[in-house]
Amino acid sequence: MQRTLIWDLPTRLFHWTLASCFAIAWLTSDGDRWHAVHVFAGYLMLGLVAFRVLWGFVGSHFSRFATFWFGPFEAIAYLKEVAKGHAARHVGHNPTGSVAIYILLAMTVVVGFSGIVTMGGDEQQGLAAGWFSFAQIGLLKKLHEAGAMLMLLVVAGHVTGVIVESLQHKENLARSMVTGYKQADANTPQATARPLVAVLMLLAMLSFGGWWFYYAIDRAIDGQGWHVKLEKGVGEEPHVKFVGKQLPDNKLWRDECGACHAVFYPALLPARSWEKMMAEQDKHFGSDLGFDQATTDEILKFMVDNSADKHLVEAAFKIEQSIPKEASPQRITETPYWINKHREIATSDWANPLVKTKNNCAACHADADDGTYEDGAMRIPKAPKPVASAAAGTASAATAASSKP
Ligand code: HEC
Ligand code: HEC
Repeated sequence: MQRTLIWDLPTRLFHWTLASCFAIAWLTSDGDRWHAVHVFAGYLMLGLVAFRVLWGFVGSHFSRFATFWFGPFEAIAYLKEVAKGHAARHVGHNPTGSVAIYILLAMTVVVGFSGIVTMGGDEQQGLAAGWFSFAQIGLLKKLHEAGAMLMLLVVAGHVTGVIVESLQHKENLARSMVTGYKQADANTPQATARPLVAVLMLLAMLSFGGWWFYYAIDRAIDGQGWHVKLEKGVGEEPHVKFVGKQLPDNKLWRDECGACHAVFYPALLPARSWEKMMAEQDKHFGSDLGFDQATTDEILKFMVDNSADKHLVEAAFKIEQSIPKEASPQRITETPYWINKHREIATSDWANPLVKTKNNCAACHADADDGTYEDGAMRIPKAPKPVASAAAGTASAATAASSKP
């Protein structure tokens, strides 16, 4: 027995980068704040799998599929041996581990592509933007989530397998995936580290992945791509914001409805809410709007044409889904979806003088005026440092005052 290089450097790098990406994707899967990171991890995983498939044919001995081409029956037979406590030692991948690898490679592709399509429907962003509507995307989103869950189970099984086998054969398998070395008899084929290949491959993947990510995310802007953004001088940010598509606009609506408060884009409430609001415009939250018939008609038409029922943006679809069919809420801030999305915001953030009221949407959503409410445009402002207790007094006074502007 002698110390032998089994796992070449590219294979080890692949293994740990994929594992990290998987962990990152899980950690960033909830909520919208880390959405861009989540998507980047997904793209990188797809790139990694592409590399691994190639490496399975041209890599060094133990990285080649030919050396671990085991089927499910062999995997089960091996599991039985392990259960009896006398499984044969495999210097390369054992049959059960091999099947886990194939499942993970395949599932990465399934989860990656269903993710791209889900994002295309849910956010109308990325490569698959516009392929499906918000309403149609449900099943693919389930596939994306269930696929990720299945991967987590396989990963758990894989980790358990590594621990059990490390104990049974008294060797640290996790460490050998770091160093690449294992004890093997003298005529075991030695892997070549191929550090140059590893570095080149990683560079190629990162630059391609980065460019692709940037391009794919950014494509939505004017439908023209990243170079337009660079020309406009807004492309310097490393994490490109999700820029929403441009929604229809109407000057009369903007002027009239923006006279007392910032405009609330029609997509935020269903048509029946707007119809009710215009029918009862003489008692609009204590004010009388007093629009003449022509003004009322034009504004109402614009609002109905772009109401939540039209699913122009993700928020529209979700708000519409959350409201009971017979209800015509007059406040966006009273719709179940809005309440749910904002339930975790701290009281101190609401009390922030830069926010003051719930319906000061633009305080936290840079694109409130455009009506798109993209995740990437959302920032809770930092409260300015209170100068003295007098400042706090002003803030709460402002909060009270602004509820009836
Ligand atoms: C004369 C002033 C005035 C005009 C003009 C006006 N509003 Fe309002 N609006 C108010 C007041 C006051 C409130 C209540 C604000 C509060 O409670 O914070 C309000 C609240 C709202 C809300 C509820 C926001 C929420 O979710 O809390 C919506 C929606 C709304 N207005 C839509 C409109 C639309 C659409 C128009 C144009 C057709 C319009 N407003 C024009 C004064 C006005
Ligand atoms: C104090 C800051 C703040 C204010 C004010 C605020 N929001 Fe939000 N909003 C947030 C945060 C934070 C989230 C993200 C929640 C999450 O991570 O899921 C959010 C999420 C949303 C979303 C979901 C976006 C998505 O794609 O997931 C919509 C739609 C939305 N807000 C609309 C509104 C509207 C309309 C108003 C005004 C009536 C408003 N918000 C006022 C902080 C705010």
